[in-house]
Amino acid sequence: MKLVSFKGVPVVRGNVDSLPRKVLTFLEHDVELCQPAFIHICDGSDEENRLMLDILIAEGIVQPLPKYENCVLAHTDPRDVARVESKTFISTESQREAIPVPKPGVKGQLGNWMSPEDLDVAIKKRFPGCMKGRTLYLLAYCMGPMGSPLSKFGIQATDSAYVVACMRIMTRMGMQVLDAMGDSDFVRCLHSVGCPLPLKEPLRRDWPCNPDLTLIAHKTATNEVMSFGSGYGGNSLLGKKCFSLRIGSAIARREGWLAEHMLIVGVTNPEGVKRYLVAAFPSQCGKTNLAMLTASLPGYKVECVGDDIAWMRFDEKGQLRAINPENGFFGVCPGTNNKTNPIAMETIQRNTVFTNVAKTSDGGVFWEGLEEDLPKGVSITSWLGEENWQPGSERPAAHPNSRFCVPACQCPTIDPNWEDPAGVPIDAIIFGGRRPVGVPLVYESLNWQHGVFVGATVSSEATTAAEYSGHEVMHDPFSSRPFLSYNAGNYIGHWLEMEKPGCKMPKIFHVNWFRRDSKGKFLWPGFGDNIRVLDWILRRCSDEKEDIAQMSPVGFIPKKGSINMEGLENPVDWNELFDLPKDFWMTEVDNIEKYLTDQINEDLPPEMLKEIQDLRQRFSQY
Ligand code: GDP
Ligand code: PGA
Ligand code: MN
Repeated sequence: MKLVSFKGVPVVRGNVDSLPRKVLTFLEHDVELCQPAFIHICDGSDEENRLMLDILIAEGIVQPLPKYENCVLAHTDPRDVARVESKTFISTESQREAIPVPKPGVKGQLGNWMSPEDLDVAIKKRFPGCMKGRTLYLLAYCMGPMGSPLSKFGIQATDSAYVVACMRIMTRMGMQVLDAMGDSDFVRCLHSVGCPLPLKEPLRRDWPCNPDLTLIAHKTATNEVMSFGSGYGGNSLLGKKCFSLRIGSAIARREGWLAEHMLIVGVTNPEGVKRYLVAAFPSQCGKTNLAMLTASLPGYKVECVGDDIAWMRFDEKGQLRAINPENGFFGVCPGTNNKTNPIAMETIQRNTVFTNVAKTSDGGVFWEGLEEDLPKGVSITSWLGEENWQPGSERPAAHPNSRFCVPACQCPTIDPNWEDPAGVPIDAIIFGGRRPVGVPLVYESLNWQHGVFVGATVSSEATTAAEYSGHEVMHDPFSSRPFLSYNAGNYIGHWLEMEKPGCKMPKIFHVNWFRRDSKGKFLWPGFGDNIRVLDWILRRCSDEKEDIAQMSPVGFIPKKGSINMEGLENPVDWNELFDLPKDFWMTEVDNIEKYLTDQINEDLPPEMLKEIQDLRQRFSQY
């Protein structure tokens, strides 16, 4: 059979002639730049997916997991296991558009900027010929439910079959999208693992990547993403953080809506009242777990709309509505088990791509937290390939940032309205992080402006979702610090501007599941018991006014006994959970002030200075 070719490159699958004109122009550019050996237009079919998995198995990138249905396990080069914030850039004409100019002598922490000229140089150093010997896969995808006015299209070119397999899970991808797109605009995404053939040096663990030259670049003005050198999800599944958060929030700013690092859930109480809320926690701080929560209180039901990203906009009636732009979950494995998250455990039994977890001798997976579920007589091979790995070994069985990638529709608690093109109505916005000391279990902001301040001042212990180590508490405005694509001062300003006459502003809360006692033990059981806090939050959003909150210097906190603690396995110490140590908070206010004024400097909205003053004032009288 003679293959049709495009620009002299054989097209091994799909029909180039049927592509919309703009897509063809994009393909032409990428083919000329990257010089692949083959072109494959993805149709998103089951058969194509089988082909991708077979290719990945043949290349040694993934192995089948016969214990489950249609699941595979990928092991990466140990240098390519997380997002790389230091190599992630926003490129705009002026630097100040992308990142604030910090105070003199202060190192900026709110994103990395690259000039368009420097980006051109960086691209020329990396992309020409980068797909030599490899196949360029072209995928058309839709972020958000097909047909929703809030959804957006993307096109990604990639030379990684692993990315194709995962993007098929994480986005709505394939023929139906190309058909629906017509000549609409789309976000242009180019990804290469950066290992043209023949290889210059041997691969590690068969995983192609190029850590020395890794670069994840975003041009927000033209809706473009260019990612080079990494196959790890957050760097390579460009629909996710790159498009839905970085490009997404730049579009959202222009169009007057919000693209946020937030889960979306519906909570039904025993009276049958259902309300939706969104929650923003930094990576590895509990979004996926809260999104799939199994309520420990009888009569409550939590249903999942999304576990990572929310696109939100006020409708014509002034109601905030949210869609989940994604189609799957890319969740943290360690810590996930039948006690903490039985819903996730059920979700990942089929059609799941696992990355960097350990393998069991009976063809299953293993990670820290699954010790009790391990069948007798089974041995473990760690993610690094150490055979007969034993619990208590120096190195963990699974990488701490190991992940499952699974279709959202497999979640047994997926919300019936999760694909509603209009989005679901949002009544509450929650911020939170890992705060070992000082920060109470829950508090409510005093008004929208104070709530924006609460979001702007989120802090959390570092996790392994990016290249950090240790447990230092880091500022993470809106839990989106790694995903900010325009000046953080303007980001805060955009949030402030959301409050408009005629809009029903959701209440804003802050939660902390991670406060510890003097021995280092968590004070709050967390997981399924977090329903108790959600219940309090939603009672605060109800029209029926209950006497359950009292004023405190941080905002409204629950009146003693107003959170339902019935049936808790172990008693909790209310006073410790809600204690507001004055010296801690006076230092916290100083830290917040220093961070915001050092980092955002002249672009900090004056409303935030007012909130700092007020918080200090409230504590000085406390
Ligand atoms: P995400 O990255 O924000 O989606 O976070 P995950 O939901 O994947 O959770 C990250 C880690 O935090 C996992 O190891 C969880 O077991 C742990 N975690 C999640 N929720 C809780 C909680 O309520 N309490 C405690 N102590 N740990 C939690
Ligand atoms: P998450 O996202 O940890 O926020 O779920 C994935 C990532 O940061 O790579
Ligand atoms: Mn998650």
